Amino acid sequence: MSADNVKELGRKNITFDLMAAMSINRGIANKLKLPWPPIKKDFEYYVERVQRKSSNGKKCVNIRGRLTWECTPEVEKNNVYSIVISKSMKDSGLPQDPQIHKVCANIKEAIDYCSSPPFCDEIGPIWIMGGTKVYQEAISLPQCRYIFLTYIYKNFEADTFFPKFEEQFEEVSLDDVDGSMQEENGLIFQFKVYKKSSEA
Ligand SMILES: NC(=O)c1ccc[n+]([C@@H]2O[C@H](COP(=O)([O-])OP(=O)(O)OC[C@H]3O[C@@H](n4cnc5c(N)ncnc54)[C@H](OP(=O)(O)O)[C@@H]3O)[C@@H](O)[C@H]2O)c1
Repeated sequence: MSADNVKELGRKNITFDLMAAMSINRGIANKLKLPWPPIKKDFEYYVERVQRKSSNGKKCVNIRGRLTWECTPEVEKNNVYSIVISKSMKDSGLPQDPQIHKVCANIKEAIDYCSSPPFCDEIGPIWIMGGTKVYQEAISLPQCRYIFLTYIYKNFEADTFFPKFEEQFEEVSLDDVDGSMQEENGLIFQFKVYKKSSEA
């Protein structure tokens, strides 16, 4: 049996979801910070969802690009398997941060790892956490299911943006997501969910 055949044994058909917040002008970051002032309700919604274990108690996987990983506060790294997308970290051979479960060179490699034993049997939901290229690559893959997008109804100065996705997705409502308009400290925002169209 070839190495490729061995690799195929026990592989799972996994899916993953994206989590992001963007402004009207599609900004997600400015100078490596969120473009808007902190929104407590959005932070709670985001952390609760991307750290929520599966019904059988398995930890989530959070996949981030290197810069997003470097900007991620410690509290968001707890109780999940973190995969970081980076060519420089993968090639450097330097000792890894113990909070990083694995470094992959691109999203495809990360999804391949998540689909293969033994990791596929140990994990709960898989979340793609950005930034731009990571989202872009993830959206194009067939395993992509939902985009959970907090839409902030204001323009903000930004240098990093959420990619175009609308042509391949349709907006849906989910029972456990409050899709009503919300307000905090004068900012209006909404938790939106998009599902990949079957023909996409
Ligand atoms: N508002 C939101 O919802 C949201 C979501 C996510 C991120 N952010 C913010 O966005 C900012 C960072 O986003 P970003 O887009 O500039 O950077 P990023 O994707 O987080 O990180 C870029 C780095 O990740 C690696 N990488 C990303 N895509 C890759 C690919 N396809 N193939 C290989 N390596 C890849 C490369 O690392 P190497 O150089 O090491 O090879 C690249 O330099 C941060 O401020 C973060 O907080 C906001």
